[in-house]
Amino acid sequence: MRQLIAGNWKMNGLQERAAAIAAPLRRGADGLGCDLLVCPPATLITTVAHILAGSEVAVGGQDCHARGEGAHTGDISAAMLRDAGARYVILGHSERRADHGESDEMVRAKTVAATAAGLTPIVCVGETEAQRLAGEQNAVVGGQLAGSLPEGFVGVVAYEPVWAIGTGRTPTEEDVAAMHGFIRGRLVALLGEGGAGLRILYGGSVKPSNAAALLGLPEVGGALVGGASLQAEDFLGIARAARA
Ligand code: PGA
Repeated sequence: MRQLIAGNWKMNGLQERAAAIAAPLRRGADGLGCDLLVCPPATLITTVAHILAGSEVAVGGQDCHARGEGAHTGDISAAMLRDAGARYVILGHSERRADHGESDEMVRAKTVAATAAGLTPIVCVGETEAQRLAGEQNAVVGGQLAGSLPEGFVGVVAYEPVWAIGTGRTPTEEDVAAMHGFIRGRLVALLGEGGAGLRILYGGSVKPSNAAALLGLPEVGGALVGGASLQAEDFLGIARAARA
């Protein structure tokens, strides 16, 4: 399967900046050997989807509510994201888990809602530095997978060690390969055959200079990119490093 290079803009960008990133992506995406996705803030999804319409670059959201509609001030449903032009949604990012107290159970409910609305969920898991130092990374990630993925899950999983996000630090290649192999095993155990073909992205300080090494590792199905996705040239540089 083609690798997926997904950009998570987080809470960055106004209309003008969104256009400045999306327009060069549209031009640069032709002929890449991977799939490209950008996940701007909700206020920019329509703008970015419009700029990228008919191109090779898909658009996604960064979160959705578990309910379809109703009295949930400030929240956005999966159907609203889809209506705005999104085809994917990131769920359970560590910043959502930390800043908004999102539990595995909440992430699972959101994943069900996203799938029902026709979005492809990207479910994020990953250990903290303290958990890694205590050797608990497999137990933590295994627990997050079991708790966050609904039965029959179809979508993408992103492994993002919390301590590698926005820090410029990454795990060793051996550690990334070991974790991705572990996640593959858990996916097959949880989902059967369906778990064998799902893409597992690596996320955390991916940049053009380390992308080829990370994307070349076994069971790495792409990258979830934060900071480097805010510069079109850096994001395209990572995409060009993807395995064909
Ligand atoms: P980063 O963020 O690339 O800036 O480390 C990754 C993410 O949080 O998805």
